[in-house]
Amino acid sequence: MTFPFHIAAADGQARTGVLKTPRGDIRTPAFMPVGTAGTVKALTVDQVRQAGADIILGNTYHLMLRPTAERIARLGGLHRFMRWEGPILTDSGGFQVMSLSGISKVREEAVTFASHIDGSRHALSPERSIEIQADLLSSDIVMQLDECVSWPAEKDRARQAMELSARWGARSKAAFGARDTQALFGIQQGSTFEDLRRESTDRLLETGFDGYAIGGLAVGEGHQAMCETLEFSAPLLPVDRPRYLMGVGKPIDLVEAVVRGVDMFDCVLPTRSGRHGQAWTWDGPINLKNARFAEADEPLDADVPCPASRDYSKAYLHHLVRADEILGQVLLSWHNIAFFQALTAAMRAAISEGRFEAFRRDFAARHLRPER
Ligand code: GUN
Repeated sequence: MTFPFHIAAADGQARTGVLKTPRGDIRTPAFMPVGTAGTVKALTVDQVRQAGADIILGNTYHLMLRPTAERIARLGGLHRFMRWEGPILTDSGGFQVMSLSGISKVREEAVTFASHIDGSRHALSPERSIEIQADLLSSDIVMQLDECVSWPAEKDRARQAMELSARWGARSKAAFGARDTQALFGIQQGSTFEDLRRESTDRLLETGFDGYAIGGLAVGEGHQAMCETLEFSAPLLPVDRPRYLMGVGKPIDLVEAVVRGVDMFDCVLPTRSGRHGQAWTWDGPINLKNARFAEADEPLDADVPCPASRDYSKAYLHHLVRADEILGQVLLSWHNIAFFQALTAAMRAAISEGRFEAFRRDFAARHLRPER
């Protein structure tokens, strides 16, 4: 049985609804904070929950290397290990192998790679990735193993990776089988080529998944090319299943993807930029290191329902960042996650009320306005 996905309202291509999982509802459009190594960096799970997140993401690649998927299984699975009771989506590992490990080699059978931690050699096949995610980590939403090419890609190279991803998708499905309490998502590839995206989708649909991701974007093509690719890629995917744009992105990317029919997102941006002194706001990103905040005695956003956004002054955050205090990283990560949740909540409300175009226009005008 696949997870029920109820679309409550649509406005143009934009939709809002609920993906129901045994561990809780995921309100869409949804932003999933990234908990790469069994932690959303700098935050407790209670803080992540309080920021409004329904679901978090975990990574096969990192967890298989340390502390190993077998150890997490012995300790009761990833939810119990990290004390997050809500749903978890895990990425399959191939993308992280490409971006993080040393020498890696992609073959039909599996990708082999050297650990970024100690150089030890490992192999990840579609079947092993499913075993790690579904059986050992007990992930709720499991991603197929895929191959993502960077941008720009020669068409032949993009086709080769798309076709391998399609075959790995079918193998992932066979290994996953039919499950009652876990879902398997396929991943569309094909770089920025429309015919490859179409062929990729046809092959994913032949296999049949519980949800469909758009992979291979936000890999250097830029905002404009990403939007152009989404314009034809997203509508190819079934309307009645969740669509997940992997590794995206900035607030403006989220809004422009939702208008093109995307339901789910994940990105390290809010936590990573929070650790570097950056806060995301309706008026765009600001860097708390900047001297203009030294005596700014107002909060980041009094309307965002998170203590980090509401209860601490920019002046205090400026001080923490300048003094390189850990609490500065915690509070800015917390605020940024809460802001991304406030953004998806605002999009859900705008879609429900049939005013998404106006929301999109007002958001861009305010968020992209040059700093005064
Ligand atoms: N994260 C960001 N992009 C991708 C992708 O194309 N594939 C996978 N598996 N993860 C991603």
